[in-house]
Amino acid sequence: MSKTTDNLQDAFAGESQANRKYLAFAKKADQEGYPQIAKLFRAAAAAETIHAHNHFNALGGVKSTADNLKAAIEGENHEVVSMYPGMIAEAEAEGEKKATTTFKWAYEVEKVHEALYRYALEHMDPNTPLVDYYICPICGYTHAGKFEGKCPVCNTPAEKFVKVE
Ligand SMILES: [Fe+2]
Ligand SMILES: [Fe+2]
Repeated sequence: MSKTTDNLQDAFAGESQANRKYLAFAKKADQEGYPQIAKLFRAAAAAETIHAHNHFNALGGVKSTADNLKAAIEGENHEVVSMYPGMIAEAEAEGEKKATTTFKWAYEVEKVHEALYRYALEHMDPNTPLVDYYICPICGYTHAGKFEGKCPVCNTPAEKFVKVE
């Protein structure tokens, strides 16, 4: 790996994190009654997304949709098989309750993502009738089609689910 490839990967990771961090900061600024500062955080977050995408494109990270689905399956599978199980065990061993919960939620939802991606890869057709996805605002559980009942991962009622546009 060249130094520049390495740097692009680091910069992509950093800008991606900055984007999510600033969106979390914007939410807090709104809650604390600073709408202008919230706007600033959201503006910078949007710019960090552009930087992240530019870095990722320079890395050649975006390929055909079939290849992108394969990359997504690989990433989700890695999280389910090797990443989260170890993190959950370590958080439990250290008595870190919040971390244990957030790792477990992500672990459960990544399994769903992997399955949804696999299904999409096996059913690639531009004429597929469109189905909306709904996500749980607490744990991220992702459901194809209108959702009823309670989140199978965290018990949040379906009325709170958010439709993804
Ligand atoms: Fe995922
Ligand atoms: Fe949930």
